[in-house]
Amino acid sequence: MRKRIVAGNWKMHKTVDEATALVNDLKSRVKDVSHVEIVVCPAFTALSAVADAIQGSNIRLAAQNMHWENEGAYTGEVSPVMLKDLGCTYVILGHSERRAYFGETDEIVNKKVKAALAGGLLPIICVGETLEVREEGKTEEVVTRQTKGALDGIDAAQAEGIVIAYEPVWAIGTGRTASAEEANRVIRIIRSVVAEIFDPKIAHEMRIQYGGSVKPNNAGELFSQSDIDGALVGGASLSASDFAAIVKA
Ligand code: PGA
Repeated sequence: MRKRIVAGNWKMHKTVDEATALVNDLKSRVKDVSHVEIVVCPAFTALSAVADAIQGSNIRLAAQNMHWENEGAYTGEVSPVMLKDLGCTYVILGHSERRAYFGETDEIVNKKVKAALAGGLLPIICVGETLEVREEGKTEEVVTRQTKGALDGIDAAQAEGIVIAYEPVWAIGTGRTASAEEANRVIRIIRSVVAEIFDPKIAHEMRIQYGGSVKPNNAGELFSQSDIDGALVGGASLSASDFAAIVKA
């Protein structure tokens, strides 16, 4: 049985004090939850403070991005070693905003996935089609290419713990969600691609989240689907009560 995972992607929001207040509020709201893995993804500047705040709790820490090298002359970048050092368990890789605004290609995402695994971090790999791609009927083709691209050269022994987030770009921050059935359909396709890359057992065990305008009022329906193993939540994760409601859904 796959343990559901709900992660809050805070994006470029919250100062250190605000982030600490948010996570402390969340901590008390979800303290009795044990059947769902709860992850928060603050900005780099708040990782350390949030790491301290969640010590001993049921909340895990993730970063939103990283470089693929462990150190070097890469001004402005943060490495897997640094994230591990701060107590991160996960790192979001290949978010559509990284792909759209910072030129991340499947090849770059793949380098980062390899570096994360080598550094003891579990990647949350984001895939998803734009509206244009969907209207052209190429959703399957694109998510297949992104999934294969991200996992290229990873062997089965390393696959345990990898999380994939299916996030249709047109549903992110727009208030438009894919219907639960449609999200489930695409996630099943991604799972079959994972089976092809590794094997059916790994595909069966891999957690695949849905992301894109997940809110307390649609989370339950999404989570009732056979293949949706949780959510990557943006906007609604900035409210402790909304995020806790999604976790409890
Ligand atoms: P959203 O963002 O929940 O605000 O749509 C999701 C994401 O980008 O991960």
